[in-house]
Amino acid sequence: MKYRDVYDSWRANPEAFWLRAAELIDWTRKPKRALFAGNAPIYEWFKDAEVNACWNAVDRHVEQGGGGRTAIIHDSPVTGTCASITYSELRDRVARLAGALAAKGVVAGDRVVIYMPMIPEAIEACLACARLGAIHSVVFGGFAAKELAVRINHCEPKCVLAASCGIEPGRQVEYKPLLDSAIELADHKPDFCVIFQREQLPAELNASRDHDWGEFTDSATPTECVPVPGDHPAYILYTSGTTGQPKGVLRPTAGHIVALHWTMKNIYGVDPGEVFWAASDIGWVVGHSYICYAPLLAGNPTVIYEGKPVGTPDAGAFWRVISDHRVAALFTAPTAFRAIKREDPGGELPKKYDLASLKTLFLAGERADPDTISWAETQLRIPVIDHWWQTETGWAMAANPVGIEKLPVKPGSPTVPMPGYNLKVLDENGNEVKRGELGSIAAQLPLPPGTLSSLWRADDRFRESYLSEFPGHYSTGDAGFMDEDGYIYIMARTDDVINVAGHRLSTGALEEALSNHGDVAECAVIGVGDELKGQLPVGFLCLNAGTSRSHCEIVAECVGLVRQEIGPVAAFKQAAVVDRLPKTRSGKILRGTMTKIANGEKYTVPPTIDDPTVLEEIGTALGTLGYPKSKGGTES
Ligand code: COA
Ligand code: AMP
Repeated sequence: MKYRDVYDSWRANPEAFWLRAAELIDWTRKPKRALFAGNAPIYEWFKDAEVNACWNAVDRHVEQGGGGRTAIIHDSPVTGTCASITYSELRDRVARLAGALAAKGVVAGDRVVIYMPMIPEAIEACLACARLGAIHSVVFGGFAAKELAVRINHCEPKCVLAASCGIEPGRQVEYKPLLDSAIELADHKPDFCVIFQREQLPAELNASRDHDWGEFTDSATPTECVPVPGDHPAYILYTSGTTGQPKGVLRPTAGHIVALHWTMKNIYGVDPGEVFWAASDIGWVVGHSYICYAPLLAGNPTVIYEGKPVGTPDAGAFWRVISDHRVAALFTAPTAFRAIKREDPGGELPKKYDLASLKTLFLAGERADPDTISWAETQLRIPVIDHWWQTETGWAMAANPVGIEKLPVKPGSPTVPMPGYNLKVLDENGNEVKRGELGSIAAQLPLPPGTLSSLWRADDRFRESYLSEFPGHYSTGDAGFMDEDGYIYIMARTDDVINVAGHRLSTGALEEALSNHGDVAECAVIGVGDELKGQLPVGFLCLNAGTSRSHCEIVAECVGLVRQEIGPVAAFKQAAVVDRLPKTRSGKILRGTMTKIANGEKYTVPPTIDDPTVLEEIGTALGTLGYPKSKGGTES
């Protein structure tokens, strides 16, 4: 079968296409229908069916005689350890954790927040929730207490599962004090917490609220999988939007497992038993889909890597993991490869390892620059596949489906729309633009199974954020174009979201944190192009009248404030004090123009600008921070 045939077969009969994909799943009640449109534009998939995600990811492999096969490989250069877990062991561990949670009253529909580093227990925590039908919400470990508190308040978990610490190169991240202060900050108080004590830094437990993970699970009675309706939420994953309030992306169970299972063979081209490694974090959507659920569903050993592409111990770390575990497919963000390339431009380190097992490298999370792709191709001599998706979709909207047919790679393009996605490039009136012309990228509704059904307890925000701009379509927030061959190109965001090392951040959230500084009257944050991380946030601060304190001190305090309120992951290190911000006459800050100045790109002075001389002041301030790295200039 060719890609075109598969895509056309979906176009011709989406219902039959997804019911066929659903045959990959074990159901306790089989779906009679795939799509339910009664509540459109909020669509539901496999609503009449009943299923359990944990059964499909874990138990069924054991039932089918595969209990002895490897499910998880934990490779942790930061602790100097490596361990494997079989499907039988995983089933027992997950069933006991679920049993312990059930004994404490956790039932289907309850929320459970997970705040953990890259250890197997983080995956087990997700699966234990899935076993009970509890809805997990994982919070990335690089977020600070306040961000954790915002999420606790919003999803109101019955309990929090956490670890005592995370380990970053050169420092231990004490999760427990962060968790304690988040719970103190939050209005909603979880009933209890379960803390996995790591020997590197055990935490002090609060006797009235905290349980030691080991004791909690050791004494527990294992529990069976609880079947849930197909549209039952599997998880909530918060992601950055335009405002400081993160959006709780809601993922219904059945669509999630049907679509993910389908992708493993068709997009990633792996067969059961082949090792799959998504070098990301369980706190991001890539971790949910491709460290946890998809590989386990399809019977692919999944690598949980607790380390970095460089510095743990060197830029050969990825090659060592591939060679030690016979990895067949690696999925990571381009920034990881840029970091490796920077330290080993000549590609000496890959030569030291046996990389014969690696069939394909997949990149996503940010634009894959052609330089990085071609460097990776030269070093690895395998297909390097860029693919495009987002937290909301849970799996690729556009990819090169190597399991169906490897299409010619065009550097700079994540290739073609996947079945389920009718992608269109639209102008501001919602009309399709010509091939090759830039526009907003939207997907015609309904989105396929596995995508978000709505935002947690915020249907109105869901409609307003994604469905209102182009009626009948989902707005991706990305701009780009489609070429004559139907290849899609993703060029920029259409909103105030920036992408730092593959991590999605809201400039609005950073601005909210900065405006909490007592001397800051007004501020703006933009994402400036960076060779390693793709973008870096840069702040502009207007101080209160009469502030006489040193600007350097205020900037340093602001950097500290963002780290404390958002977390180190924001990588916010640069800000300049300015007198005024460039605005339109209606008061909208011209972040786009500021970004162009910072990047040394040509820009047009917007006709709506209140006072064009402010742009010169912004240019001067950027100059003090070393921007632009290359020269551009004004057009008018
Ligand atoms: N818990 C606590 N802190 C964390 C963390 C975690 N899970 N993950 C990152 N951080 C901290 C880091 O320690 C760093 O803190 P610092 O300012 O004290 O140095 C900060 O957050 C920024 O981290 P990171 O983005 O990892 O940048 P880096 O400069 O340490 O490393 C790269 C640069 C390119 C090696 C790194 O960004 C990387 O591996 N990127 C791959 C991206 C990726 O996998 N994205 C997922 C989407 S697919
Ligand atoms: P996240 O939700 O954190 O996964 O971020 C999703 C956003 O990252 C997308 O909307 C894009 O802006 C960007 N992105 C992800 N993958 C790609 C890609 N392959 N090419 C270009 N941008 C990408």
